[in-house]
Amino acid sequence: MNVSIEVELFGQRMKNPTMLASGILGTTADLLLSAVKGGAGAVVTKSIGKKPRDGHANPTVFEYNCGMLNALGLPNPGIDHFEKELSKLKGKEIFFIGSVFGSDGSEFSELAVRMERAGASAVELNLSCPHAKGLGAEIGSDPESVEIITQAVASSVEIPVIAKLTPNTSDIVALGKAAERGGADAVVAINTLKAMAIEPYLRKPALGNVIGGLSGQAVKPVGLRCVYELYEALDIPIIGAGGIESGIDAVEYLMAGASAVQVGTAIRGKGMAIFAEICAEIEDFMRSEGYKEVGDLRGLAHD
Ligand SMILES: Cc1cc2nc3c(=O)[nH]c(=O)nc-3n(C[C@H](O)[C@H](O)[C@H](O)COP(=O)(O)O)c2cc1C
Repeated sequence: MNVSIEVELFGQRMKNPTMLASGILGTTADLLLSAVKGGAGAVVTKSIGKKPRDGHANPTVFEYNCGMLNALGLPNPGIDHFEKELSKLKGKEIFFIGSVFGSDGSEFSELAVRMERAGASAVELNLSCPHAKGLGAEIGSDPESVEIITQAVASSVEIPVIAKLTPNTSDIVALGKAAERGGADAVVAINTLKAMAIEPYLRKPALGNVIGGLSGQAVKPVGLRCVYELYEALDIPIIGAGGIESGIDAVEYLMAGASAVQVGTAIRGKGMAIFAEICAEIEDFMRSEGYKEVGDLRGLAHD
C-alpha cells in the first residue's frame, strides 16, 4: 500500500511532519543542513536575540535516566552574526524556521523581520524558555503578553508566525487562544518543564542556575496532554514536541491533534538519522493500520 507522509503547514509543503526542535544543534548552517540530510522535513534554529549572550554558568546540563535537564540560559551569537550564518543557506533546499526571543513586542518584531530577510520560511517566538530572566516563559505565561507580542510580530512580517508555548502554567489553552487572537499561524507545544536536580554528596543543586528545564521521555505525557487540550480549543495548527523518540511517539502526538512534530533531546542519543527512522516508523504504522495520508491521523484520539 502506498502511503504519503507529506504535510501542508500554513500553505507550505513539507516532505514529512518532522522538524528539528529549537536549541538542539541549530546553531550553524551546516548543522541545520545535516538535520535535513538526516530526514527532517523542516528545521528550527536556536533561539536568537538582539545581542550575543553567554548564557548561564556551568554546569548547564544534567542527565536523568528519564530525560534531560538544561539551564543553558539562551546562549546565542546575536542576530548580526547569525544573519551571516544563515546566508550560507541561500540556494539550498531547506525549510527553515527562525526562532527568536526578546523582552517585548518591538524586540521580537525586529528579530522576526531580520529572520524573514534572511530567508526563513516562518518565525517561531520563544515565549517559553523556563530559565531566562525577563524572557521566555516569564513573559510567555501571561496571555496578554502573548497576544501583544504575537500581534506585534504578525503585523511586521509576511511569513507565518508560530508561538511556542510554555507548559509551566495551569492553563495552556489560555496561552494558545491568546496567540491565536494575536494572529499566530500555529503554536508549538511544549517547551521544557521547570525542574531541578540535587547533587546529594555535594549538598547543592546540580545546575549552576539551580532551576532548569526538563525535556525528553519524562515530558511526553505532559506534551501529549497540552496538544490534546489545544486541539479541542484552537483553529490554528499545533506542532507537538516533548519526548518524541520514535515513529509511534510521533503518531501519538498526531492523534492528540498535532499537524507536525519536533524532535530535540532524542537527537543526543540517536543523531540526525533519527528523522528518517521516525518517518519510516510512521509509514510502517500507516501501512499496517490502513492510513494513506499522514493527515488522516490528526486528532484521531478525539471523538
Ligand atoms: C539543550 C536544549 C536547548 C534548548 N534550547 C531551546 C531554545 O533555544 N529555544 C526554544 O524555543 N526551545 C529550546 N529548547 C526546547 C526544545 O526545543 C523542546 O521544546 C523541548 O526540549 C521538548 O522537546 P524534546 O523532549 O524532544 O527535547 C531546548 C531544549 C534543550 C534540551
